[in-house]
Amino acid sequence: MSVFSELRIILSGIGFFVWCLSSGKVSAADQPNIVFIVADDLGWNDVGFHGGNQIPTPNIDALAYNGIILNSHYVQATSTPSRTALLTGKYPFKLGMQGSSFLPADKRSLPPGMLLPDHFKALGYSTHLVGKWHLGYSKWNETPTFRGFDHHFGFYNDFTSYYDYLTTWRFNDKDYTGFDLHKDGVPAFEETGKYATDAFTDYSVKTIEEHDTSKPLFLMLAHLATHAANEGKPLEAPQETVDKFGHVEDSNRRTYAAMVSKLDDSVGRLVEALDRKQILPNSIVVFVSDNGAPTVGPLGRNWGSNHPLRGLKDTPFEGGVRGVAFVYSPLLVQAARVSTDLMHVTDWLPTLYSAAGADIGLVDSDLDGIDQWSTLAYDLPSARNDIVINLDEKTRNAALRFYNWKLIVGANQNGSYNGYYGDIVLNDIEEQTYNTSAVLNSPAGKVISKVNYSPLTEVEYEGIRKSSTITCLDPKAKRNPCDPADGSLCLYDIPSDPCEENDLAKFFPSVVRRMKRALVDYRAVLVNQLEEGTDIENADPKLFRHTWNPWSGCSSADCQVPTPDA
Ligand SMILES: *[C@@H]1O[C@H](CO)[C@@H](O)[C@H](O)[C@H]1NC(C)=O
Ligand SMILES: *[C@@H]1O[C@H](CO)[C@@H](O)[C@H](O)[C@H]1NC(C)=O
Repeated sequence: MSVFSELRIILSGIGFFVWCLSSGKVSAADQPNIVFIVADDLGWNDVGFHGGNQIPTPNIDALAYNGIILNSHYVQATSTPSRTALLTGKYPFKLGMQGSSFLPADKRSLPPGMLLPDHFKALGYSTHLVGKWHLGYSKWNETPTFRGFDHHFGFYNDFTSYYDYLTTWRFNDKDYTGFDLHKDGVPAFEETGKYATDAFTDYSVKTIEEHDTSKPLFLMLAHLATHAANEGKPLEAPQETVDKFGHVEDSNRRTYAAMVSKLDDSVGRLVEALDRKQILPNSIVVFVSDNGAPTVGPLGRNWGSNHPLRGLKDTPFEGGVRGVAFVYSPLLVQAARVSTDLMHVTDWLPTLYSAAGADIGLVDSDLDGIDQWSTLAYDLPSARNDIVINLDEKTRNAALRFYNWKLIVGANQNGSYNGYYGDIVLNDIEEQTYNTSAVLNSPAGKVISKVNYSPLTEVEYEGIRKSSTITCLDPKAKRNPCDPADGSLCLYDIPSDPCEENDLAKFFPSVVRRMKRALVDYRAVLVNQLEEGTDIENADPKLFRHTWNPWSGCSSADCQVPTPDA
């Protein structure tokens, strides 16, 4: 054991003591600033800290190694349900928000109720959403600035394009195209031509620079990256960045690599901005992907990779729901480690609320999220031992984690994507190696070395990377393939079989029974999913200066953005 790790343990003891003393109310000046970064459709294997060499992500890796890599962090399998879970702290199936993600001109929207930013506003925070919303916009009061965010710069739909911000939706063989980039509800035409990842980063950096530090900051940066854009031109990145990836054989994967690289630059720039503003020591940076990458198939394929995990976006397998995630903060006493404690995306609301010194239980006792702050900061035991991964009364797909077990019943997409697809994009023209020194020397790495009392060594980085890399069962181990699409119940022991290769249902019938019963109990409190339907006739961008705009409850002549206070 190194002197540093002993020091960390001693400090953690002190931290625990301080925590016990201070677990009452925290004063406003002590409330941490929160920067919550959501990547879109980023694959498990598309970050360096999970073991991939193909796409260097030095800024992301520097934060991850110095923070806590959350390797059992579960999300929902698609965007709208995942963002619902994050912002409500509740399972989507309790709100009718399970099922398909919203489409442009969708009639559906997130039901009313306090959201995460509302709770932080009540604690005195200034709240900002930059980037994607995707929780409904038929009426103004369903848009971000009416749902807890002081400001929103970004888009309403599932995606837009990276330079011209046009979103095209095909319905009944007709294309509907509209501009989807707004600043507090007003179309931001002036940003046209600027690469989306840069535009969102510039705006976020400015938000940090101009932030009034007498208040704490909650900034959610929900990137467009690395979602695919419109058909015909799904992947876009600056050519100079694409040119850095000449070693990647597949040209689509090469552009995707550049999209990831721009996302990584963004993370570095945010950390530098927090440092320049001198608020990093009291900040928490969270990074999550909303779901796994759509590696193959028709659903917005982006050429990401979930290797070596099974499945992809919109499947209940680990490749769909075990999202890339980490948290970095100087406030985490027990950091520089890989956590395999179960965590669900609903946990962030109570966890961050607790980090802000408040108890969400006093405000809302009906959450599915669990406060994990002391688990994260002090490595205390986690209170979570199960996660409902999916419960969908229409597809009849359900999946549950219970301690080490995972049970899958039924399938999404008719089970068309229940296999392994992570490798098909990994061909390199020349072999790549991992550059640890590039991590240390990245913008984020340099800032961290400056604020850390004991900067990690390259050897420590490599050790953490190794323990963060998943290896599947030994190929010689007996395999028991199982496909829930054919009606089988598939049971996996995830810690020993993270790639879901060895079905244990017939060996542990009592576990299967118990988990099925738990799902039946959850089914009893399911709210039927909101009725799907489009309002494209009334929402046609042609009626709104060729923009996607709220359309319901106002006529196109007077559908301007109202003031949030009105
Ligand atoms: C699933 O099967 C149904 C009925 O056979 C079919 O209509 C649908 O297109 C299939 N979906 C996929 C994603 O294969
Ligand atoms: C690794 O990164 C450093 C910069 O941090 C660079 O100087 C060095 O050339 C890189 N090594 C390789 C093998 O690319």
